[in-house]
Amino acid sequence: MKANNNPGKFYVTTPIYYVNSIPHVGHSYTTIAADVLARSARQEGKEVFFLTGTDEHGEKIAKASEAVGKTPKEFCDEISAKFRYVWDKLNISYDYFIRTTDKKHEDAVKKFLSNLHENGLIYKGKYEGLYCRGCEKFLQKNDIVEGKCPLHLTEPELLKEENYFFKLSDYRDKLIELIENDTIEILPIALKKEVLSKLILGIEDISISRQTVQWGINLPFDDSQTIYVWIDALINYISSIGYADDSKNFSKWWPADVHLMAKDICWFHAVIWPAMLLAVGEKTPKKLFVHGFFTVEGQKMSKSLGNMIDPLPLVEEYGADTLRYFLLTEFPFDHDGDFSIRRLEERYNNDLANDLGNLVLRILTMIEKYCEGKIPAANDEANNIKIKSIKLDLSAQLNIRNREIEAAEFSKVLVNIMNLIRETNRIIEEYAPWNLAKQKDTDSLNTLLYYLAQRLATIAILIYPFLPNTSEVIFRQLGLEVPSAFSIKENLITLLPNKKIKKEKPLFPKK
Ligand code: ME8
Repeated sequence: MKANNNPGKFYVTTPIYYVNSIPHVGHSYTTIAADVLARSARQEGKEVFFLTGTDEHGEKIAKASEAVGKTPKEFCDEISAKFRYVWDKLNISYDYFIRTTDKKHEDAVKKFLSNLHENGLIYKGKYEGLYCRGCEKFLQKNDIVEGKCPLHLTEPELLKEENYFFKLSDYRDKLIELIENDTIEILPIALKKEVLSKLILGIEDISISRQTVQWGINLPFDDSQTIYVWIDALINYISSIGYADDSKNFSKWWPADVHLMAKDICWFHAVIWPAMLLAVGEKTPKKLFVHGFFTVEGQKMSKSLGNMIDPLPLVEEYGADTLRYFLLTEFPFDHDGDFSIRRLEERYNNDLANDLGNLVLRILTMIEKYCEGKIPAANDEANNIKIKSIKLDLSAQLNIRNREIEAAEFSKVLVNIMNLIRETNRIIEEYAPWNLAKQKDTDSLNTLLYYLAQRLATIAILIYPFLPNTSEVIFRQLGLEVPSAFSIKENLITLLPNKKIKKEKPLFPKK
């Protein structure tokens, strides 16, 4: 298949989430981060394909549906719809939602497995090992802590089966090479090193089918077995772009630019998935962004521990942008972090209400009061204004922001933007426009207000991938239609003098 050398395209994915849990803030974190990458790439003019979805096969889903008296399909339909509902509430701009029970996906999985089989990379063998049903995987000795899976705090079960195996071990050396030279780039570096050292110790072939699991896709060459849910799930990244039925679309988008996930599933994406692709002669994904875990009182948020935080009441109370802001600003991407509503409230009141909300309100109120509600004209010769220190260079700011977003340094970007917001508030204090008004220095006052409005528009562009709704509201209040109603001259946004502003109710009212 031909390499994807189109720099104008960007393909980003989230994991597909298991439907045995309702969406919680852990899932939201990954999905919001992917949305930021997608929105920022679209702002740069790239053509974007942003994929998310649900992982619906396997034993634990079958058990979860049984427990509530539903058929697996009914159960999957319901929870999958919940994920979509929450993503809509969080303003997630995904382009496609894949479900592993879609026929298009099942066809692709069968085609992929047939290819592996035809290439002689599958054999039948016996497996005996300790299986964690929460992870849906066999655990190795060093994965087990005090006899239990450290993620699910349950004892793994001894499973003995006759399964089909994929010759994963054949790809060890190639994978080491591709990861070492960043053909498959793994960020953060600490995880890249962890994956490499595990690979260097050696890897075993993996079982890719199950004898006893009914709720799954049948193996194309032996329908007495179903395909192991992880093998089925990983193929979503290509089934959704037409691996089985649309080779033009497939070669347009593959390989993915970024797969996002938390560290629990890094191994599947860094090792098993690339090996599967190599085995059928396809390109490997370009980059993995791997983030930490949200904990609640020190424990991983998960269904089995019953400590999940539902994003919906938070969105209801504080708005989608608040949760988006909070999740991405509170913890650096590669760190674990303890989720706390108290911290969310603090961030809301301090950063969003006091700093951002107040800034918008102040600038619009002054334009209303001193300029009859119209964007004033600037005079760069105005006596009392040091224009140079007020102008905010959009292109320079966007360059910094985009490089940081591309390195998954989301909290750093947001700290920088908050600094610009605070700096703008300080400029208002320093120049005290109300004094300029008293002194009847209209020229300086108009110039100051013009550049303050311009800073606001610049900030609205910078925050767009993170706080899309707030960004649009700021634009609207400045009398600009979204999203293309501004032009840029000498790296600055040009606002049209005399254009009417439309002040609305305050953003982020204080709680
Ligand atoms: O693993 N903190 O699905 P899953 C941060 N179906 N992120 C979290 C989190 C937490 N406490 N909990 C979940 C699966 N996540 C498979 C994936 S992909 C081909 C198949 C996020 O529902 C994070 O992105 O268990 C993590 O990797 C993912 O949800 C696991 O979701």
